[in-house]
Amino acid sequence: MATPNNPTQNLVRPTRFKLVRLIVIVLLALIIFVGLTVLIIWLTIKPKKIVYSIDDVVIHNYYLSNANHLNATYNLTLSAYNPNKKVSIYYDKVDIIVLYDDETISRGTIDAFYQSKINTTRFKLNLASHDVALPDRIARDLKVERTLGRVELRVKLKTRIRFKLGMWKSRQYDHMKVSCAPLMVHFSSSSKGFQRTMCDVDF
Ligand SMILES: *[C@@H]1O[C@H](CO)[C@@H](O)[C@H](O)[C@H]1NC(C)=O
Ligand SMILES: *[C@@H]1O[C@H](CO)[C@@H](O)[C@H](O)[C@H]1NC(C)=O
Ligand SMILES: *[C@@H]1O[C@H](CO)[C@@H](O)[C@H](O)[C@H]1NC(C)=O
Repeated sequence: MATPNNPTQNLVRPTRFKLVRLIVIVLLALIIFVGLTVLIIWLTIKPKKIVYSIDDVVIHNYYLSNANHLNATYNLTLSAYNPNKKVSIYYDKVDIIVLYDDETISRGTIDAFYQSKINTTRFKLNLASHDVALPDRIARDLKVERTLGRVELRVKLKTRIRFKLGMWKSRQYDHMKVSCAPLMVHFSSSSKGFQRTMCDVDF
């Protein structure tokens, strides 16, 4: 025969239930607290995207031979802006290429550098095409654009970066790719100015 009313059990059960409920509430509060703390820290230090732009490009010494070999120099001003208040950046060597219609017409590099918080670093680059052989189709397009007084170029950068936050430095390098296009570039003989062009930054 079962005894439906056991006085001791009735006393113990609610107490145990209350204890479990208390533990659950404390655990939930703890989880929410830790979550909020992490979120706040993340929002404070979260690295914002670095902003790149091409501020100026002029083509000097343009010469396209009958055999479609290109000579030219490109005076280019590049800006890198680190908008972060807490994070500074270590850059590895930066590889630069200049493209016309998917054809690489010039290459260059920027030495490894360090960029502090909220800093704009400007680079004046002198790049060149030395006797670059162009496919006929590309050379034809280039000639047409030359008669319009400007050419549409693209500049791409490739590097690796590391972040520094206080005393902490990230050990791993992150790859970073930057693409600046379309750049409407005038020749040195032209009086037209260059329209500052923002770049896509990917890391
Ligand atoms: C940014 O950093 C570079 C290199 O340290 C420095 O030459 C330049 O003056 C800084 N620019 C600003 C706006 O702080
Ligand atoms: C352009 O770059 C060349 C080197 O390629 C340099 O000699 C010249 O002074 C530069 N011109 C300007 C206006 O910056
Ligand atoms: C083009 O560049 C090459 C390599 O620098 C040079 O040998 C050649 O003389 C240049 N041609 C012209 C027409 O300037």
